[in-house]
Amino acid sequence: MLIDWTPNAKDPIPLYQQIVQYMKSKIRTGDWPVNSKLPPQRELAHIFQVNRSTLVTALDELIADGLLESKRGSGMWIANNTWSLLASPSQVNWNSYTETGMYSPNLPTVQQINRSEFHPGIIRLGTGELSPELIPSGPLKDLLCTLPAKHSLGYEEPKGLLYLRQQISSYLKTFGIDTPPSSILIVSGALQALQLICFGLLPNESGVLLERPSYLLSLKLFQSSNTEFSGIPMDEEGIHLASLLQQKKHFPASLLYTIPCFQNPTGTLMSEQRRQALFELCQKELLPIIEDDVYRDLWIDTPPPAPLKARDKNGLVIYIGSLSKSLSPGLRIGWIAGPAPVIERLADMKMQNDYGSSSLSQWAAAEWLASGLHQQHLGEIRHQLKIRRDTALSILEMHFSDIATWQVPQGGFYIWLTLIHPISLQKLFKSALNAGLLLNPGNLYDPLANRQLRLSYSYASLPDIKNGLHRLSGLIRSLQGNG
Ligand SMILES: Cc1ncc(COP(=O)(O)O)c(C=O)c1O
Repeated sequence: MLIDWTPNAKDPIPLYQQIVQYMKSKIRTGDWPVNSKLPPQRELAHIFQVNRSTLVTALDELIADGLLESKRGSGMWIANNTWSLLASPSQVNWNSYTETGMYSPNLPTVQQINRSEFHPGIIRLGTGELSPELIPSGPLKDLLCTLPAKHSLGYEEPKGLLYLRQQISSYLKTFGIDTPPSSILIVSGALQALQLICFGLLPNESGVLLERPSYLLSLKLFQSSNTEFSGIPMDEEGIHLASLLQQKKHFPASLLYTIPCFQNPTGTLMSEQRRQALFELCQKELLPIIEDDVYRDLWIDTPPPAPLKARDKNGLVIYIGSLSKSLSPGLRIGWIAGPAPVIERLADMKMQNDYGSSSLSQWAAAEWLASGLHQQHLGEIRHQLKIRRDTALSILEMHFSDIATWQVPQGGFYIWLTLIHPISLQKLFKSALNAGLLLNPGNLYDPLANRQLRLSYSYASLPDIKNGLHRLSGLIRSLQGNG
């Protein structure tokens, strides 16, 4: 149940009546179908940002009207038999449709995170995105304003705007990937790349090997196609090869998915040696690789080793990149570089899906890359990320050294925090949310990671990072019973 509204305290209508009207309109329009369950009262009061008694007054009125029903022990429901009270014709039960679509719903915690990110004043301690203050909005605005006068904004060709593919081809050469524009597909972010690969290249019920933990495990996308995952442990150099080989013996894998640069969620950078050995192993085993390299440009200390794709002479690797992490996720511009038949197949699928990514975004990305502004901007971002990472690390030293451990990331956004003593991550997530802190629990990325948090130093402002992390340490201590 999506609730992205709060009553207006300046409105002369009492808060509880505003809530009654809001809920009635949700029931009337069918947004909240009969038999749907309301969130628990505490949570609802938090979402509406009212105190509990205001909420209870509103709920009582709706119960009295027969619109809500309270079931002992199982919360509050939209009542079954009350549609006539709203003087409307009979209602379609959309629940029965929404439950049968081919997409599985997101994990409840992911849904909660997606909603809570937009609560005013919330401190986002796990968000994998550049802070608004790091997005170069001035130069982007100047560039965007010029586009409609200079370029036609019609549909683009199936693989995407040629001029952008040429820019990406030149950009890829800077770190050793030699791919012509004809072997590049423009996509609406790396997530769409994953979606096209999942539905276009993998048979139903395939097996995918991947690092454990991994970003991919937080997505329901691959689960929707009944893909089986097998997680391979990592060490400080990246995915563990002996375990990979061992696992491959028992698990029928169609491919390996890896994030070698500043991995999401651990921040690990795969070493040169490990990359070479991994590439050779996959070549020997004929195991295709999906290399997700969206964090490559965000190195802080030294540039990362060459990508796996740069070693690929036989079309073993499908390479994914994106402007989301380094420039702006709102542009929704990413790319896939791979063997020509794969790119043709995925381009055809993309045409079936959306007729191509926004041509405004494609032109903006192309001109941004062609202008040289990107390299200049990356220099600035690296400088800012260093300040943010070092600040986060100094706060961790100050307030977490007796309750958690972590590695120093050499780039990207993330610090993978491991709590020394286990606590309920669900309780921590909730109590942090009530205190205005939004967290990314580790078990989103590996069901077994129930002592971990993915912290990010990229999104919150510096004062919020300091204050938020300090408060988080207090919450962890109080849940451990020594606060
Ligand atoms: C490893 C990885 N791949 C892909 C994505 C999706 O990025 P995009 O915004 O380009 O779709 C993310 C975003 O968090 C990510 O961390």
